[in-house]
Amino acid sequence: MSDKIDLKSIFSKLPDKKPFIKGIRRAPKRDFSLSEAETELALKNALRYIPEEWHDDLIEEFLEELLTRGKIYGYRFRPEGKIYGKPIDEYIGNCVEGKAFQVMIDNNLDFDIALYPYELVTYGETGAVLQNWMQYHLVKKYLEVLNDEQTLVVMSGHPLGLFASDKKSPRVIITNGLMIGEFDNLDSFNRASSLGVANYGQMTAGGWMYIGPQGIVHGTYSTLLNAGRMKLGIPENENLVGKLFVSSGLGGMSGAQGKAAYISGAVGVIAEVDYSRILTRYEQGWVNDISSNLDEVFVLAKKYVDRKEPRAIAYHGNIVDLLEYVIKENIHIDLLSDQTSCHAVYDGGYCPSGINFDDRTNLLKTDKVKFKKLVDLTLKKHYEAIKEITNRGTYFFDYGNSFMKAISDSGIKEICKNGVNDLEGFIWPSYVEDIMGPVLFDYGYGPFRWVCLSRKDSDLEKTDLAAMECIDKERRFQDFDNYNWIKDAKKNQLVVGTKARILYQDAYGRLKIALKFNDMVRNGEIGPVMLGRDHHDTGGTDSPFRETSNIKDGSNIMADMATHVALGNSARGMSLVTLHNGGGVGIGKVINGGYGMVLDGSNRVDEILKTAMLFDVMAGVSRRAWARQKNSITTVKEYNELNNNSYITLPSLTNEDKIRKIVKNNYVRGGK
Ligand SMILES: NC(=O)c1ccc[n+]([C@@H]2O[C@H](COP(=O)([O-])OP(=O)(O)OC[C@H]3O[C@@H](n4cnc5c(N)ncnc54)[C@H](O)[C@@H]3O)[C@@H](O)[C@H]2O)c1
Repeated sequence: MSDKIDLKSIFSKLPDKKPFIKGIRRAPKRDFSLSEAETELALKNALRYIPEEWHDDLIEEFLEELLTRGKIYGYRFRPEGKIYGKPIDEYIGNCVEGKAFQVMIDNNLDFDIALYPYELVTYGETGAVLQNWMQYHLVKKYLEVLNDEQTLVVMSGHPLGLFASDKKSPRVIITNGLMIGEFDNLDSFNRASSLGVANYGQMTAGGWMYIGPQGIVHGTYSTLLNAGRMKLGIPENENLVGKLFVSSGLGGMSGAQGKAAYISGAVGVIAEVDYSRILTRYEQGWVNDISSNLDEVFVLAKKYVDRKEPRAIAYHGNIVDLLEYVIKENIHIDLLSDQTSCHAVYDGGYCPSGINFDDRTNLLKTDKVKFKKLVDLTLKKHYEAIKEITNRGTYFFDYGNSFMKAISDSGIKEICKNGVNDLEGFIWPSYVEDIMGPVLFDYGYGPFRWVCLSRKDSDLEKTDLAAMECIDKERRFQDFDNYNWIKDAKKNQLVVGTKARILYQDAYGRLKIALKFNDMVRNGEIGPVMLGRDHHDTGGTDSPFRETSNIKDGSNIMADMATHVALGNSARGMSLVTLHNGGGVGIGKVINGGYGMVLDGSNRVDEILKTAMLFDVMAGVSRRAWARQKNSITTVKEYNELNNNSYITLPSLTNEDKIRKIVKNNYVRGGK
């Protein structure tokens, strides 16, 4: 390749500054604690992307961004107007994958989808596609020239370059925020982020696989249904009619809660402090009513519970106020959760009670110490309220947002099972520990998804039907739920942005659907398709407070599995492979990875699918089986019996009572 790839080759002159469109949400100022010398370093780092002759124009501007926003975004380089995932044929490229990933990046930055589109944040308060707009142009340019014997390497948003590989190699490999153990903490990350060398990719934001809030609706729907079955005694073939679900958050992923409650038949009441997010969900039809009056909220809720009609009600206000009202009025809640962004509890993810959303944003900027104090006070009230409500018979579960971890970190150790630290978990279950782990992940069921890159509704309809035909709904109740999900998917109007679909499937279910779709692409029935998944899955993520919270052999603090899944997917030729630090629960608390697989109708893709789709899931199920998870052991036994050129190690089980007795009689603290 002879052409140089730099911003000079993209812009003939320094682009003009552009105004910010009113009404588009903006990220609050991020932590800024760089010294003067480090501030110089941050500027030098950002200017590496900029041709030298523009430096004089940009030094002060970048410094202003750093001091006022905590990061250098290079706003001036953002393309003007709306960015969105266009039909794949409208992109320039030398291979389908190069064009397909441009669709995915643009979809992740769509005003209708992204939480803070100007700051390249897709969801989860801080989950970013890339660090800045200079990276956006370079990555895009690389994707335009990428050919099918090259791999683009992206490190925390920075495109390191194109390297020679071959047709069965990944076209893009991404890592985000991976830190050396000693520095693997939020303070070091924030410093690295201000310096412009670390990106918080969450899961699918920095993995370019976010498909809007639909991505999480299916998981939330399955969690609610199964919580109802396990804790409220609801039969397997029934839903949550007449039950009340209460939670908080109508943001990026939490925004799925109202819709999921509705689809599962329940009445959902969701508290949200940011009115703009309520409006977004209301306009999408994902919440049915809005009120900032708690009397009104619960009169409505009671009406629909009594009528056994599903309903999604948004309460504009703080969840703690709502819970205290529920206690005072003695209202019975069936299922209770929380989905505020507690993984970033002191960075704006959690709004203190007693102040409104605007005050929260101001306080965050002007007095971080006071803000932290208020957050801690609110967490305490929140904890006390949940304690009271669960004592009255409600089932509460942590929704993977680091809620219980945040309470514990704020100093309330009573929430820890051992009363001292979180090593043995917390007093309430996480949704994975009780529900998703045993019922879904241990079998390999996880958030498989696809995007019809043509952006045609007709392609999505054809793939929905084809996927439905691949499911045997009589096999297990999970298959029955998944069948119903896909049957009603169109009716439930879940699409925001590109024509995408989520469908929980196990290893062979995903493979069957993938091969079917690739065949449809080959036959010209549909355009190219991007397959992927959320990292929040059976195998992609090592997260002791969430995805692997039901791993009880002590290996929940290890990140071997997530790393292997990424390496293995890469070796087998997935089109995009990603590995991240921090997704969902925060820096240092998780390692997670994902993939993207472009279906172009070729035999090459068939061959990759046959090994990679199974490995991606079964690596997770195997590890769960080795940790003695009953349902995973069954799944692995079935897998081992199939003639698929694989064999998975199974554990010997032992008499636990006998061990307990012998240890009790002989144990000496510190050893002999
Ligand atoms: N459910 C899942 O399967 C799942 C999966 C991944 C991550 N998560 C976690 O869930 C959390 C939410 O994710 P998101 O993408 O929706 O984040 P988000 O930041 O977009 O949304 C959180 C919402 O909570 C609101 N909020 C904050 N404090 C509040 C309070 N005290 N009362 C009422 N509302 C309040 C915020 O205004 C915001 O709109 C994150 O921690 C995320 O990591 C959940």
